[in-house]
Amino acid sequence: MMLGWCIGIAATLLALLIYLAYFFKFNWVKDMRNEGKMQKIDGVYVGSKSRKIGKLPPVYPNGWFVLLESSQLKRGQVKHVSALGENFAVFRTERGVVNVLDAYCPHLGANMGEGGRVRGECLECPFHSWTFRGDGFCDSIPYTEKVPHIARVKSWKCCEVNHLIFVWYHAESAEPDWQPQPHTYISSGAWRFQGRNEFLVSCHIQDVAENGADLAHLSAVHGPAMFFSDNVSWLARHSWTNAVWRPYCPYSSETEDETMNKTNTEATEVRVKLNGASSVEPISNGHVVDHVEGHATATTENVVGRREKYKASMQMRHSLVLLERFTLLGMRVSVEQIGPGYVELLIDTSFGSMYILQTVTPIEPLLQRVTHQIFSPALLAPYAKLIFLGECLMFERDIAIWTHKKFERQPTLVREDRAILAYRRWYSQFYSAHSPTYQMATKNLLW
Ligand code: FES
Ligand SMILES: [Fe+2]
Repeated sequence: MMLGWCIGIAATLLALLIYLAYFFKFNWVKDMRNEGKMQKIDGVYVGSKSRKIGKLPPVYPNGWFVLLESSQLKRGQVKHVSALGENFAVFRTERGVVNVLDAYCPHLGANMGEGGRVRGECLECPFHSWTFRGDGFCDSIPYTEKVPHIARVKSWKCCEVNHLIFVWYHAESAEPDWQPQPHTYISSGAWRFQGRNEFLVSCHIQDVAENGADLAHLSAVHGPAMFFSDNVSWLARHSWTNAVWRPYCPYSSETEDETMNKTNTEATEVRVKLNGASSVEPISNGHVVDHVEGHATATTENVVGRREKYKASMQMRHSLVLLERFTLLGMRVSVEQIGPGYVELLIDTSFGSMYILQTVTPIEPLLQRVTHQIFSPALLAPYAKLIFLGECLMFERDIAIWTHKKFERQPTLVREDRAILAYRRWYSQFYSAHSPTYQMATKNLLW
């Protein structure tokens, strides 16, 4: 009888474990804003209204930004997404094509993302039932025979890549000169989706990606082991070594090229010595290495550089050090920053590789929606979930800094911080003459 009970409990636990490891998908959603709240820290009240913002760069860079994940928009569905100071009506036609239109109907201004209906390949406005095609032209008006040619709404360039729906934003309405590329393993479904997270973060968009070039924060912020305090680092700590940040090729004009070539070389040399470990695997200058499936394909920078100046990369190695003697969870992390709001992290572990996709979209001038999705081979699901849990917790440590910091335009840096300057120069390519400043963007939000 007793044995029967034990077997029953063990079988249930095993089933639960298998479910958690293979079928459960993370959905870690947190609003990390600190709006208008008074926080009591050690008896002192600190209001978020006292936060200084600093001299900010423009708030909406030019590039591709994720509005929705593919799974969030079914066929025949429309959603209103406000981001980048715009209101978008994102809809998927009956045939499955995604279109992005300005949400406001040119007739009398109804928001077509709120209550609009998809009719075949068109979006129907909820107010007087005008229908609009994906290219923005009005297709039909139910109470008139002649549809005027000027009946048209702005259509935004969009693409659906790696199960993400991107929109192209450019302050001068320039055409896109690059686009996020699909990953065979992700788009074919060979690697399975293992979970996602989503955070609302009160910071400038540039702060999020600056993390990749801020090599010194790795041991300070991400060194203490999860669930342990900094005081017991002898017991367990994360070690981040061989960290390198570098732009692919940032500028086009001669002078800027020279400057950045210099910075490039400098950035390539920027490896931090963290936790006493020394750098062992230098990345050869001028080569971009793709580690997928263990095939190291090198592409010469002066071939891809100009074309891929919107990319930057970061490499590092991670391990969990126990009792300063044993190392676990060794992995190599190759980060590719693709434009101002999209990042691909390839994690090579001893059991296999996995991808984390990060998206950063400005919802308001100083409010970012940040998401991560993780994809891995099916058999790696339990390990992928463990790594993703770590990623969620580590990312919250970054958020804790970002939600209180100000933007330091002229930071006091030491030599070892120089990748930060290279990063800022690289990121400045995403701003143009009419990129909205904080003042402009907040003025437009007043209703
Ligand atoms: S406001 Fe859209 S049809 Fe009239
Ligand atoms: Fe970080």
